Amino acid sequence: MSNVVIVGTQWGDEGKGKIVDLFTEKFDVIARAQGGHNAGHTVMIDGLQYILHLIPSGILHREKSCVVGNGVIIDPFALLEELRMLKDFDLRGRLHISNRCHLIMPYHTAVESAEEARLADKKIGTTSRGIGPCYEDKIGRRGIRLADLEIPEIFREKVAANVQFKNQVLAGVYGAETLDAEEIYDSYMAVADEILSYVTDTAEYLNAAISEGKSVLIEGAQGTLLDVDHGTYPFVTSSNATSGGGCTGTGVGPGKIDGVVGISKAYTTRVGGGPFPTELDDRIGRYVQEKGAEFGASTGRPRRCGWFDANVVRYSCMVNAVDTLVITKLDVLDGVEELKICTGYSYRGEQLQFFPTGIETLEAVEPIFESHPGWESDTSGVRDYDELPENARKYLNRLSESVNTDVSVISVGPDRQETVVVENSPYLARLLPA
Ligand code: IMP
Repeated sequence: MSNVVIVGTQWGDEGKGKIVDLFTEKFDVIARAQGGHNAGHTVMIDGLQYILHLIPSGILHREKSCVVGNGVIIDPFALLEELRMLKDFDLRGRLHISNRCHLIMPYHTAVESAEEARLADKKIGTTSRGIGPCYEDKIGRRGIRLADLEIPEIFREKVAANVQFKNQVLAGVYGAETLDAEEIYDSYMAVADEILSYVTDTAEYLNAAISEGKSVLIEGAQGTLLDVDHGTYPFVTSSNATSGGGCTGTGVGPGKIDGVVGISKAYTTRVGGGPFPTELDDRIGRYVQEKGAEFGASTGRPRRCGWFDANVVRYSCMVNAVDTLVITKLDVLDGVEELKICTGYSYRGEQLQFFPTGIETLEAVEPIFESHPGWESDTSGVRDYDELPENARKYLNRLSESVNTDVSVISVGPDRQETVVVENSPYLARLLPA
């Protein structure tokens, strides 16, 4: 029995899609725990690219079951689009969506765009998918869940009550256009049957699977620094992207989790607003952005790029209790003459002992860098750790040392094959089912 949570240790986009896909072979069930269609997990299989926003990428393996856990919020139209894209993958009996998932409603996206406009230059830079307002309603106990779609009268009542309230906010607070409750009701009921055919109590499903000896891989979306509690608040998403969210977002209790795998890029990226101490606003930053195809999988926005920040990843390893790290996109650094690792921050002349809580501090810190010589050769064809260029191995050793965490897998390209497993990694052997 081995149940594992995979988390992003930076600001999302660490390449979790590929790694989840890689690990999937060893698990029976793959579950997604939080976020919505703000996430974009890109998987390349035999030269074909799949971008999944809501459904775990494990669905591309025909013998696996997938769960969209209760912590995920669902835009039914985005879900339908994804179901259609996956129509040749025999989803029936393999895909299970929690009846506790909250629904993203048109008033969520309307309120979000009005609020981002109000914030002007202080805006969060969200993915404009209605994520924040939907989670606000969930916490505010006025959300509408998939289970409500099963009883049309209840759904109609809840939509009417919420639209009445949101229209007051839209018109009164923001001077924005209002919405029609009946129109919303009709459009959701038109797709309800198809979606409900996948809906069940997934906490029961997952715990029964675990009791039968099956292994579950729980994939987080976004990354630790976007976590609403542990991230760079308020420039965060509105869910718990840390390993604890893997439990609350699925109904699998912590006692059943055997390990946590953290994913980190060999450098750092961030999309949207907010502080980013190691950001590169120069030729190297643009080189990494282009070579790493650093454009959002959901929104197409360019990602900001910077050096590896050991302070960020060390903090993430702590709050997630990461057992082992996967370092992705090492190949993107091929040919960069000199690499830098940020090993700490100084603030007002003093070295900070902890990762700062306030963004005002994080905005003002000076990163402390150490320099490492780069390597010339192309690493994308390397499959054995020992065949990586010596400077690449030194760089990886230093990354691992600076975050006090073992590195067990290195990704050197988007395809499944483009992967180096560090042989004899004791953590990997312990975490993965035999
Ligand atoms: P929201 O999740 O749309 O509310 O956006 C909040 C912040 O999280 C913004 O900075 C987004 O760019 C960021 N974000 C949300 N989802 C992702 C993701 O999957 N990858 C990277 N950043 C994300």
